Parts: sequence; structure tokens; C-alpha cells
Amino acid sequence: MQSTTAGPSLGLQFASLPRPAIPRRAERDDLARLFELERLCFEEERRDSKEAWRYSLSHQRHEVWLIDSSDGTVVASMILRPQRRVLVLFSLACHPDFRSQGLGRTLLALALRRTSDLGLSETVLEVAADQPELLAWYQRHGFQTRRHLPDYYHPGHHAWRMHRPLGDHE
Ligand SMILES: CC(C)(COP(=O)(O)OP(=O)(O)OC[C@H]1O[C@@H](n2cnc3c(N)ncnc32)[C@H](O)[C@@H]1OP(=O)(O)O)[C@@H](O)C(=O)NCCC(=O)NCCS
Repeated sequence: MQSTTAGPSLGLQFASLPRPAIPRRAERDDLARLFELERLCFEEERRDSKEAWRYSLSHQRHEVWLIDSSDGTVVASMILRPQRRVLVLFSLACHPDFRSQGLGRTLLALALRRTSDLGLSETVLEVAADQPELLAWYQRHGFQTRRHLPDYYHPGHHAWRMHRPLGDHE
């Protein structure tokens, strides 16, 4: 699997996942641990700022979700920002030492459920155009590319807007 790690791993060989790994709503004092995961998972130009995380943690309608490991490290997280019709998913990330165990899939499924619970019509996100495996992963989870966004991150670094309409059964 291609690594997108932007910094050294914390070396969590002694931490483990609770089974099942159940996401919980983040609280304001999770900020430092959430931002540490963001720093590990995204290169600088693709990171949400600490201010953006703080804003979502205190915003009445935004939802920050995370999964803790046994030692209290945040190993996966995402931000959900409901808009008038759609739920926008930001900063979906899983700690490099805990990838390919379904945590990303768990959070993605939760985002789709929240879209339905909130009465919204679709889930929307932006993904870097230079990550075909990530695009394919979202497509396997029912997302479709909607619009190419040239220079979205910075000059020469494009993105795709993807959307996932709710199915009839959702
Ligand atoms: C995308 C991400 C959250 C997936 O988390 P995860 O817990 O590993 O996801 P799952 O275990 O549910 O699924 C694993 C699958 O993700 C796919 N995948 C996602 N991103 C990938 C990437 N950049 N390169 C390769 N495969 C990737 C693979 O198909 C992988 O399958 P495998 O286990 O057979 O290799 C994680 O890779 C990550 O944090 N990446 C860095 C941050 C990022 O780019 N986030 C997306 C923002 S749009």
C-alpha cells in the first residue's frame, strides 16, 4: 500500500485496538491528539489547520469522530460538516500503524449513516487526484467522481470532488 505518511510513525507497537473498534464523538480536549494524527497522515499542504479542527470541535452542527486505541492514542478520525443538502466529509485518516484493519471503512460507513440520519441527500468529499488507489477505494464504497478541481491543494496538485448519493435502502 502506498504510504501517505507525512511524518515519522509514533511506533505504537504496544497499543492495540479494542474489538470492536467503536467510533466516538470527539471532545475539545481531544484536539492535540487529533491534530497529531492529522500531522502523521497528511502532507502539510493537505492538512486542515489546528484552527479548523478547533472550529469543528466547537461548532454546534459539525461532528468530529474518532477511534481510540487501547493506550488512548487517536488512531482514526474524521470531520463531518452538514450543509443544506449534503454532508461534507473532511480529513478521514487512519494511523499508519493501524491501516488495512477496516477503520477507514468503519468511519466511512458512519459518515453515510449520519448523512441518512440527518436527512441529507448525499455524502461529498475531495480527494487528491494523484492517489488512484484512494480514488478506487472510495469508488468501491459507492462514491463517484463529480468534478475535477485543478490546483485545488496548490499549483499543480489537483483534486476530484466525489459524491455518494444515498441508496434507496439507506
Ligand atoms: C484512506 C485511509 C483513511 C484508509 O484507512 P484504512 O483504515 O486503512 O482503511 P480500510 O482498512 O477500511 O481499507 C484499506 C484499503 O484502503 C485502500 N486505500 C486507501 N488509501 C490508499 C492509498 N493511499 N494507497 C493504497 N491503498 C489505499 C486500499 O484498498 C486498502 O486495501 P488493503 O488493505 O487491501 O491494502 C488511510 O489510508 C489514510 O489515513 N490515508 C492517509 C490520509 C488520506 O489520504 N485520507 C483520505 C483523505 S480524502
